[in-house]
Amino acid sequence: MTRESKSSAIDVFLEETRVFGPPEAFRQVANVRDENVYARARANPEAFWAEFASELEWVKKWDRVLEWNPPNAKWFVNGQINVSSNCVDRWAKTEARNRAAIIWEGEQGEERTLTYWDLYREVNRFASVLKKLGVCKGDRVAIYLPMIPEAAVAMLACARIGAIHSVVFGGFSAESLKSRIEDAQAKLLITADGGYRRGEVIPLKHDADYAVAHTPSIEHVIVVKRIGMPQRMKKGRDLWWHDLMREADARVEPEPMDSEDPLFILYTSGTTGKPKGIVHSTGGYLTGVYATTKWVFDLKPGDVYWCTADVGWITGHSYVVYGPLANGATILMYEGAPDWPERDRFWRLIEKYGVTIFYTAPTAIRAFMKWGIEWPKRCNLSSLRLLGSVGEPINPEAWMWYHTHIGGGKCPIVDTWWQTETGMILITPLPGLTKTKPGSVTKPFPGIEACLLNERGEQVERGGGYLAITKPWPAMLRGIYGDPERFQIQYWSMWKNIYFPGDGAKLDGDGDFWMLGRVDDVLNVAGHRIGTMEVESALVDHAMVAESAVVSRPHEIKGEALVAFVTLKEGNKSSESLARQLKDHVTQKIGAIARPDDIIFSVELPKTRSGKIMRRLLKDIAQGKVLGDTTTLADPEVVSRLKQQYEGKGE
Ligand code: PRX
Repeated sequence: MTRESKSSAIDVFLEETRVFGPPEAFRQVANVRDENVYARARANPEAFWAEFASELEWVKKWDRVLEWNPPNAKWFVNGQINVSSNCVDRWAKTEARNRAAIIWEGEQGEERTLTYWDLYREVNRFASVLKKLGVCKGDRVAIYLPMIPEAAVAMLACARIGAIHSVVFGGFSAESLKSRIEDAQAKLLITADGGYRRGEVIPLKHDADYAVAHTPSIEHVIVVKRIGMPQRMKKGRDLWWHDLMREADARVEPEPMDSEDPLFILYTSGTTGKPKGIVHSTGGYLTGVYATTKWVFDLKPGDVYWCTADVGWITGHSYVVYGPLANGATILMYEGAPDWPERDRFWRLIEKYGVTIFYTAPTAIRAFMKWGIEWPKRCNLSSLRLLGSVGEPINPEAWMWYHTHIGGGKCPIVDTWWQTETGMILITPLPGLTKTKPGSVTKPFPGIEACLLNERGEQVERGGGYLAITKPWPAMLRGIYGDPERFQIQYWSMWKNIYFPGDGAKLDGDGDFWMLGRVDDVLNVAGHRIGTMEVESALVDHAMVAESAVVSRPHEIKGEALVAFVTLKEGNKSSESLARQLKDHVTQKIGAIARPDDIIFSVELPKTRSGKIMRRLLKDIAQGKVLGDTTTLADPEVVSRLKQQYEGKGE
């Protein structure tokens, strides 16, 4: 057990002592080799960020780097810039025009490569399609696509004309799509006839039809033909992507956008019912993702960079599309599952395309570990030179496995901590510089100020506490769409003028950070945030359910698994088949990622005398722990009965 300072807010128990310095061969040619970057950035953070911003192409230079009226920041004030011209035109106009921008492979093995010139043509033409359909600057466009190049083209085309995109993960249900379209009042939806996952077709257009039937703001639905199954196209509303592209203009001038204009909205789970529409800006966001991609992933011409995230998540926005393309990188995009047709698909892709940089999530790494080393062993992974991890804490064993069996012991690992809200990586090793430790995210990126605080706002020098970001950063969220009050309460009310991400962490004697997970009612399942409230609302939406409380238990692969305690309305009987029905109901309302692993029926839920459900106790039951204090309960018997019931399940 580590020693803790007196003000420590969270107990920590694990200590990991292995240290891995950057391999000499890597260090010698790394983009960042000079320790002084940290001191330089700390001395003048605005000058530090302005230097990165100056490497981008601006229509008009900014007057001031930062205007900070907490919690509202403006970066590169009065500057004008277009994100698509920085990601595409900039390279299409140089000798890089024939460089591959996107190498794509479909699950069925189809291959497509778009050079920067190809991407330039596609983005321009699709921007013209959007314009012809009456999409204007500031309009919201929903994107519900599989991992196909059209997803990146659609995002960049929106950015080109100043429309705000809202990408909805293709694995989300029709209901989730509907509520996101509704919240943003999107005018247009871009989807596909379907996508492939584990050999099966995901019927995206079918789900989109349901959503659009309930969202009158949508004027048109553009459909990409991906699988070629016959579709019902509603006349006047539904249009094929390929038909529209035939009529498109070859060139659309990029709209000069104010640095603070919104670039996109992305929905993420919060502690209360409705997902939050996180709003990101243009100039600050691009500067943040450009800088971190360049330094954290050490990008160089010739690299083949593969981030396995779907574009439906923030990682897909910042580190599949915007960060890498702003750096002129070659990215690999893969449509499907890692175990299709066999469990070596990722390793085959790495070998086939000579991937040099590989960025994935601990949940995937744990699955690979379970499948065994015979799968990666079949392939030549020697092209790899850098590995990354994101989405949840990586356990030291998984880190070591990744290092040994995927990195061949020679690749630095960057374990990057950040969030949908932060837009960019905030805490991470710099691969040519940082001594890494299995399980530690190490230090804040230069220019980022982070520390641990307790509830009273006192600093924790060593031991556990709440992570706090004490200075503004360029890619920080600019708000929650349509809800400034929630923005203030959610992130800025814990301490004065300090950002509260909702994560616990510990600091070791070297000043390295170790993430401990969420401290609020948000779960992290397979690297994706799920609000307990959302799942509870979906359950209560079922006609037979009166009340529910959702907690988590550790899960070998997903990190956390959902356990739902459910009270039925009178007159209904619990059964295995009802449990299955409820799981299906959640899948249908939210999507498969929120499907509970266990449903526990209970006549009552443990409540305080004031009627609050005691999730803490339910969590103890789900995790098989000794029960905590039950004295505040209205009826202490309820928990012991539940505990017996859960343990009797033979889990
Ligand atoms: O709890 C942290 C965890 O994921 C949360 C952010 O989730 P989301 O907005 O969906 O973005 C995921 C991809 C950036 C954080 O609050 N998290 C993310 N990265 C790490 C992490 N936990 C530990 N280590 C990480 N590297």
